[in-house]
Amino acid sequence: MSIASNPSRYSPPSQLFHWLTVLCVAGAWILGVVGDDLPKGSIRHMGEFVHVILGELVVLLLVLRIVWRFIAPAPPLEPTRFGTAGELATKLGHLAIYGLLLAVPVVGVLTLFHSGEALPLFGLSEISSPWVKNRELKHSYKEIHEFLAHTLMIVAALHAAAAIAHHHVLKDRTLKRMLPAVFE
Ligand code: HEM
Ligand code: HEM
Repeated sequence: MSIASNPSRYSPPSQLFHWLTVLCVAGAWILGVVGDDLPKGSIRHMGEFVHVILGELVVLLLVLRIVWRFIAPAPPLEPTRFGTAGELATKLGHLAIYGLLLAVPVVGVLTLFHSGEALPLFGLSEISSPWVKNRELKHSYKEIHEFLAHTLMIVAALHAAAAIAHHHVLKDRTLKRMLPAVFE
């Protein structure tokens, strides 16, 4: 099995980065949404800690994925009846997802720093907040973080629906290209 992409599917590392990103984004979003309902104390604290670690993993996977794209470029898009307009929409959709995968964690870090809290780095070390606690700024950044996180989930859901439509309606290889050869 080749480690590089070929015209028929994404390379195994690209697939791994994609599906691990899906798990981390879903986990971070669920913990973000239920966070305030967790019992106060060590359980809520653990929830926030895991939320931040998953968010950091999203950024790490994003960097690995972009670096890997230069080594093993993505296979060309499957031709569809929507022609170049369809290709443009797909590329803009992917670009929006990439932008949100960076913007959500960055604004999350700003939210944390304006709470006066340190950013834990995978539990190995931490970066202290450069600012003192500021309730209003924290609230504003939290609102932006929440809005961007929900936007990411909506765009990702539309993206997943498009992948499923490619498979069941257009009956092309778009979804299979993002899956290991065993799903052939
Ligand atoms: C390094 C990355 C991240 C950091 C530092 C971070 C930080 C935070 C902080 C400090 C809060 C507010 C918690 C509170 O005081 O109630 C929060 C809430 C939240 N986060 Fe993140 N986050 C990160 C990544 C993510 C990601 C990747 C997602 C999902 C796509 C996400 C989704 C949410 C949601 C939905 C909330 C709830 C907002 C609310 O209740 O108003 N976060 N995050
Ligand atoms: C949080 C959820 C998701 C995120 C953040 C995400 C992100 C991305 C990104 C950025 C790409 C572009 C890859 C590249 O060319 O570099 C991509 C491709 C792809 N994704 Fe997702 N994805 C998510 C969920 C899903 C789900 C649930 C499915 C399947 C149902 C899916 C199926 C695909 C497929 C088939 C491609 C390849 C598209 C093509 O070749 O044009 N994704 N995804």
